[in-house]
Amino acid sequence: MPGSLAASSSGTLYVDREGAAVHTHRVFIGAAIRVIALALLLASAQAVDAKTRQECEQAYAPRNGQRGKDVVWVPTNDIMVDRMLAMAKVTANDLLYDLGAGDGKIAIAAAKRYGAAAVGIEYNPDLVQLAKCLVEVEGVGHLVSIQQGDIFETDFSDATVVMLYLSPNLNVRLRPTLLAMKPGTRVVSNSFMMGHWHPDDRILSREGRAYLWVVPAQVAGTWQFVSTSGEHRFSVHLEQTFQELSGTAGERGAKLEDTRLHGAHIEFAFDTPDERIQLTGQVNGDRIDATIRRGDKASAYVGTRVRRPAT
Ligand SMILES: C[S@@+](CC[C@H](N)C(=O)[O-])C[C@H]1O[C@@H](n2cnc3c(N)ncnc32)[C@H](O)[C@@H]1O
Repeated sequence: MPGSLAASSSGTLYVDREGAAVHTHRVFIGAAIRVIALALLLASAQAVDAKTRQECEQAYAPRNGQRGKDVVWVPTNDIMVDRMLAMAKVTANDLLYDLGAGDGKIAIAAAKRYGAAAVGIEYNPDLVQLAKCLVEVEGVGHLVSIQQGDIFETDFSDATVVMLYLSPNLNVRLRPTLLAMKPGTRVVSNSFMMGHWHPDDRILSREGRAYLWVVPAQVAGTWQFVSTSGEHRFSVHLEQTFQELSGTAGERGAKLEDTRLHGAHIEFAFDTPDERIQLTGQVNGDRIDATIRRGDKASAYVGTRVRRPAT
């Protein structure tokens, strides 16, 4: 038989099988009071620690147009921040860098809206402190890191998205570094272009302009394509200017048509005397995994780069 209940002056007594008495009410009420007291203590500690935007700006309030190392500070307006992140198709899988991060608003927005990890690189130590403070206010410290540094001396090669609001000259200075990044990396620049590297997408609006580039794979050179059965082969010579492709294929040097290079994705077509050949593939260094379509027949090929262009 289980234990039985008995009344006492200090609460209900539970008498177990062995006859041991347990003060259930007293134990329960005591524990509840301790939990509530702890919660109140934590809440009041948080209230003391929680910063506001105003407090961050009291410590340092930057002036629109103030001088920076290579370019002045002007924040991207809120509407354009949203549009630029949307144009870059930012997701929670991205690592976004804002080069010249100012008050960190783009990095903070990427984390808040999309759950992306973000790094802001900013030269001005006061702006760095302000950005760090705002990261705390917005509760995104687990996703956003603000680092003091010069964008021309910082390694951001692990970025999947790069945001810029610099100048046309600084964009062109960064261009070789951006082009050496992993194919498919998205670069968005507020207001300024990238010299002769034409954008893949753009926003032209009353609130501002912004441009998107998708870093293309480097595919220039001579390639040998061999069917996975080993029966068929042909060679292709590719010339590349940024994401624009041209070239020739086969022994007769047929001109490549319908060329497209988007990140690591490549497409082109050419005619032989008998048929039209269409290739789509994924570039991985000196290899292309391709599908060749002849009419309604598709077969797998592997392309290998046998010669790189002379540098
Ligand atoms: C036009 S503001 C853009 C701020 C922010 N990215 C935005 O869009 O709101 C450019 C920022 O770049 C910073 N900056 C200028 N030269 C820099 C450099 N060499 N390295 C790091 N930051 C730099 C400036 O201090 C300024 O905060």
